[in-house]
Amino acid sequence: MLGRLFSTAPIQSFLHRVSRMMKPQVVFVLGGPGAGKGTQCSRIVECFNYTHLSAGDLLRAERGREGSECGQLIDTFIKDGKIVPVEITISLLRKAMEETIQKDQEKIRFLIDGFPRNEDNLQGWNRDMDGKADVKFVLFFDCNNQTCVNRCLERGRSSGRSDDNRESLEKRIQTYQQSTRPIIDLYEKQGKVRTVDASRSVEEVFADVKSILDKEG
Ligand code: ADP
Ligand code: C5P
Ligand code: MG
Repeated sequence: MLGRLFSTAPIQSFLHRVSRMMKPQVVFVLGGPGAGKGTQCSRIVECFNYTHLSAGDLLRAERGREGSECGQLIDTFIKDGKIVPVEITISLLRKAMEETIQKDQEKIRFLIDGFPRNEDNLQGWNRDMDGKADVKFVLFFDCNNQTCVNRCLERGRSSGRSDDNRESLEKRIQTYQQSTRPIIDLYEKQGKVRTVDASRSVEEVFADVKSILDKEG
């Protein structure tokens, strides 16, 4: 029995084993580019026992990793505001989750920021993670396009990000409206979305976030 559990592919068997003990608990964090997902996730981890994993951050790190086979592809997709094929993103997310749990088996609560962003992301998650992790709810930072663009342009003054410019932002907003909103709507129909008005100040937004997390755990 033990032999069988430990002899399969290391990544596959690890999550499988862990999920038999304590299933990872996931909150998906969604919203337009610049809605404040990263800012609020940083605040959340200060107060609650969550690990923040940003799909965008993981992709940028992989893009910059020496020897990465998909660095060039990621670079092009990010500049074009397009969503990278889920096989890449999910393998980065799984690896990060596994490394976190491997270091500390109590760390099973994750904020997955910027995922799932389209149908391909969602299908990839269901294919790979169904039964292995519980999606508790979706934290949705609702912010109008103009505010999102303004915040990203402001961030672009110092972020060094190749996509915090008007041209990329136009495409990112389009991708958000066409591909991400339908995913949020899908979760909404399942009663799984907790919406926060993200156009207000960081403090005001966080006050609402805090009360949601106090309630939901
Ligand atoms: P996201 O991860 O959703 O793209 P960030 O958290 O990186 O967004 O925020 C985008 C930019 O807007 C950052 O420069 C951040 O400091 C700023 N920002 C975040 N939340 C707010 C807010 N509520 N009001 C004003 N600026 C904000
Ligand atoms: O969330 P963030 O703004 O950091 O994402 C930056 C970019 O990373 C996106 O515009 C997209 O090109 C890419 N990305 C992706 N798939 C995700 C999350 C981010 O392709 N699930
Ligand atoms: Mg972010």
